[in-house]
Amino acid sequence: MALDRTITTTIDSDLCIGCGACIEVCPHETISLVDGKASITGTTSLICDHCRAACESGAIRVDGIDESLSRFANFKTRKEWLPHGKYDVSELVNLMQSRRSCRKYLDKPVDKSVLDDLVKIGVTAPSGSNCQMWSFTILPDRSSVKAFGSRIGTFFENLNRLAEKKWLRTLLKLVGKPQLNDYYLNHYESIKEGLEEWDKTEKDLLFHGAPAAILVASKEEASCPAEDALLATQNILLGAHAIGLGTCLVGFVVSAMNKDRKICDYFGLPDDESVYAVIAVGYPDEEYATVTGRKPAAIRTVNLSP
Ligand SMILES: Cc1cc2nc3c(=O)[nH]c(=O)nc-3n(C[C@H](O)[C@H](O)[C@H](O)COP(=O)(O)O)c2cc1C
Repeated sequence: MALDRTITTTIDSDLCIGCGACIEVCPHETISLVDGKASITGTTSLICDHCRAACESGAIRVDGIDESLSRFANFKTRKEWLPHGKYDVSELVNLMQSRRSCRKYLDKPVDKSVLDDLVKIGVTAPSGSNCQMWSFTILPDRSSVKAFGSRIGTFFENLNRLAEKKWLRTLLKLVGKPQLNDYYLNHYESIKEGLEEWDKTEKDLLFHGAPAAILVASKEEASCPAEDALLATQNILLGAHAIGLGTCLVGFVVSAMNKDRKICDYFGLPDDESVYAVIAVGYPDEEYATVTGRKPAAIRTVNLSP
């Protein structure tokens, strides 16, 4: 399906002072100056809202923007744009370095309004062609997270049963499908232990006992569905830390949902969406004295100048 590029911008020519600021920031040549006034002369729009945000005289309106996504229930934000360089980068990096995958949560519910705020933080992310075809599904309480965890547990029980069959692993490998054998080598044992632990003590090695979770999905027709969802996810992780919440990505659940569409149906995910991140969320029951380090990264500088 083609992306909707319908122009929703309107310009009040009485208010427009013809400064051209909207034209400078428009990525789609939607606007140009006609007789000294900004006018809609293009045929398509990204609905990115750049023109309205650049207009100092309040002459521009862009329909299709959900204002409620910029209103947070638990904190206030400034409406003014923060100019480049006008933020304390050391604070920002300290936040990034302090975010940790949290695997121990307090037995304390997270207010739904806080989870809603996290989603609103998520959607501040960029998206390919500004299509914003992401979706966020909130599991608001521990019993919902547990029910979902049990469904995922059933998936892994079945997968482990298949992976136990040596003949099947060998056969699949022979026909160029080594994934079941790889799973057996890398995950079978730990998943088996996790499932046994869950049966015996209800120790939750998937969501680590988190009292809430957020699933981030994208429509497959989006131009960059994975990138969009994962950029929103990183915003949520950082926002959660700033709010006082711990988070942990649960990759095992994403892979289960991508392997077995029935889990997506159980979850009510529309057929045209795929899940890219599952985030456990809750108040952390852990603290650190310092930030952690990183392994050496592959960093290359390619100077192609002649
Ligand atoms: C795509 C992805 C999937 C992950 N899945 C899991 C998971 O299933 N269970 C878990 O405990 N941690 C999971 N993690 C967390 C990583 O183990 C963690 O990010 C990594 O060890 C670095 O630690 P940090 O997040 O505290 O910086 C996942 C992380 C990513 C990026």
